[in-house]
Amino acid sequence: MPKQYKISPDSPIGIFDSGIGGLTVVKAVRAGLPSERIIYFGDTARVPYGPKSQVTIRRYAREDTEILMKHQPKMIIVACNTVSALALDVVEQTAGNIPVIGVLKAGAELAAQKTRSGKIGVIGTQATIGSNAYACAIREENDALEVVSKACPLFVPLAEEGFIDHAATRLVAEEYLSELVGKGIDTLVLGCTHYPILRRMIERITGPEITIIDSAEAVAGKARQLLGSQTMLNGGSAQPMPHLMVSDLPQKFSELYRLFMGTELPDVELVGV
Ligand code: DGL
Repeated sequence: MPKQYKISPDSPIGIFDSGIGGLTVVKAVRAGLPSERIIYFGDTARVPYGPKSQVTIRRYAREDTEILMKHQPKMIIVACNTVSALALDVVEQTAGNIPVIGVLKAGAELAAQKTRSGKIGVIGTQATIGSNAYACAIREENDALEVVSKACPLFVPLAEEGFIDHAATRLVAEEYLSELVGKGIDTLVLGCTHYPILRRMIERITGPEITIIDSAEAVAGKARQLLGSQTMLNGGSAQPMPHLMVSDLPQKFSELYRLFMGTELPDVELVGV
């Protein structure tokens, strides 16, 4: 049973992912909710999650949530589609009475709103695509929608390497995406939080006719709504730096943080898993 504690508007928002992908969520939450304190955990010792079994992903999900719970957050955002697809219930159980939002549902809802043709593409890790969770969540919104999915596992290590505008990324992206583009989709969900890091490259291949849905941006809007409805929004005027924690290689994480987020560079704490 998780320990109960008292939350207040000043309590932090806890966010986690397997690695740097969740920074796309941190960026979106900071843009939409600049006064909020953020505690971020990136499980860099065990990234990637996408090729792992459900049993392993569920164990990681519980351990990651426990790390965040030590900081008494007022909300947990699962900034990992893989965990959202396969282990959201584990996070909810571990978080007790603290609200949990996953990127997957937020991305699915936004995609269902945006499509005009009714044909949506979804890209994600093997685990996310194999679980069929996106297709189910999109059809829950509207069962007439058609979903075409494709696992793009190499995008995660490319993003972790900072290969944002690299020829290797272009080749891999062409290989993965040409198949989807030819299937008449008008909307493409970036169903892995690492993928927005490669968004420009992806957009170059999909072209202007296809609307890109970033599940990271979608979840930030949901967080604002939920905290607002619980009068838990932080009304302060300060813009606190996020508290970053990783399970391995903090220095590498700092470099990627700078590359991806701009110049600010908070300290990165190393925590054991
Ligand atoms: N960024 C995560 C996701 O959204 C996990 C990627 C991975 O570790 O394979 O699925």
